[in-house]
Amino acid sequence: MGRQAEQRDGAVGRGPLCVGAPHTLLWLAASLLLLVAQVLALENGLLRTPPMGWLAWERFRCNINCDEDPKNCISERLFMEMADRLAEDGWRELGYVYVNIDDCWIGKRDAKGRLVPDPKRFPNGIAHLADYVHSLGLKLGIYEDLGNFTCMGYPGTTLDKVVQDAQTFAEWKVDMLKLDGCYSTPEERATGYPKMAAALNATGRRIAFSCSWPAYDGGLPPKVNYSLLADTCNLWRNYDDIQDSWKSVLYILDWFVTYQDILQPVAGPGHWNDPDMLLIGNFGLSFEEAQAQMALWTVLAAPLFMSTDLRTISAQNMDILQNPLMIKINQDPLGIQGRRIVKEEFFIEVFLRPLSHGASALVFFSRRTDMPYRYQSSLATLNFTSSHVYEAQNVYTGEIISDLHGETEFTVTVNPSGVVMWYVYPKSLGKAHH
Ligand code: GLA
Repeated sequence: MGRQAEQRDGAVGRGPLCVGAPHTLLWLAASLLLLVAQVLALENGLLRTPPMGWLAWERFRCNINCDEDPKNCISERLFMEMADRLAEDGWRELGYVYVNIDDCWIGKRDAKGRLVPDPKRFPNGIAHLADYVHSLGLKLGIYEDLGNFTCMGYPGTTLDKVVQDAQTFAEWKVDMLKLDGCYSTPEERATGYPKMAAALNATGRRIAFSCSWPAYDGGLPPKVNYSLLADTCNLWRNYDDIQDSWKSVLYILDWFVTYQDILQPVAGPGHWNDPDMLLIGNFGLSFEEAQAQMALWTVLAAPLFMSTDLRTISAQNMDILQNPLMIKINQDPLGIQGRRIVKEEFFIEVFLRPLSHGASALVFFSRRTDMPYRYQSSLATLNFTSSHVYEAQNVYTGEIISDLHGETEFTVTVNPSGVVMWYVYPKSLGKAHH
């Protein structure tokens, strides 16, 4: 967000206002710029680092059977219990603050056209749920769809309802909106997403905006205009839904890597690519695969939305999701998305994400299916060009690897479908920074 203002910079400065002393001119130009920025740019100042939290969809889907499955159905109870866990089990302090509702919460529209949650499953309403979540120091996200229906067939936000729904969400004190794209045409999306961004801004409440817009237009230019997206949305789903399997993780990863030249430059503070939720804690991933998804999503500067049952998650999966160095890397203030920099014929790949203070994250990733692979490399081979001496910390084991010069050969042992992840920093900067 905010790029629009930058683009208009030159035009304002060169306008017909070229009179008076240079400093008056400068002042005039600056004030005008500010005005233009305020009016046109959809800057809400939110999500300077990728959002972290919990999102219902992947694990709990559209389970509305509260009679037979009261603990797991989409209901205020589910969101309150997840909020309790986020607040009590150390998640909130690490940054996992969003509790996000997905599809299947809506009951109907009332006589005035206002959205009403399902009265049986949300008997106290969304405003009450938002208050509860806020009382725990967390934030509430909600879901709607720019079309006649949501993907699961609940009432959607048609173009004539956009402003009213934005106001409703703001009145309820919602903090994030995921706006899906089922049952919409490309034209409706081109009008509707910017319209919703403006309507959310106009409410005066700061509501982060997650758009599924590109995912419904194939995810790539020329159909998708990523600079417009960055001016309109804080994050966007580029591609297909994740499912509970390693195959699905690879399918999504492959798409993001294939198009990294397009996708990598468009991410940054306030506007992020979203490869979809973390599966960690569910049924489809082995331990190694869970570590791999976490590491890969982190180097991709992806949102960290868990979608698992935090009431029953194992200590081992919690360790993966609560790794402080991992989260520090994901939340690096520069917000630079990483890239795959090596793809070996023998199914080893290396990803690199530049971080602040001259540090980097390296992920050595194995797609092999035989045995742990001893991969030999050096920092010079991996695009490290400076003459610094580096240290590396293994993000999962904590092991420190000292005195890495560019040419120093090292070996990492990467398990099948697993990763070794390093936080690499110049030794000269001292540990204080790190
Ligand atoms: C789409 C989205 C999913 C989820 C479902 C809900 O498929 O991509 O993330 O929100 O709709 O129906």
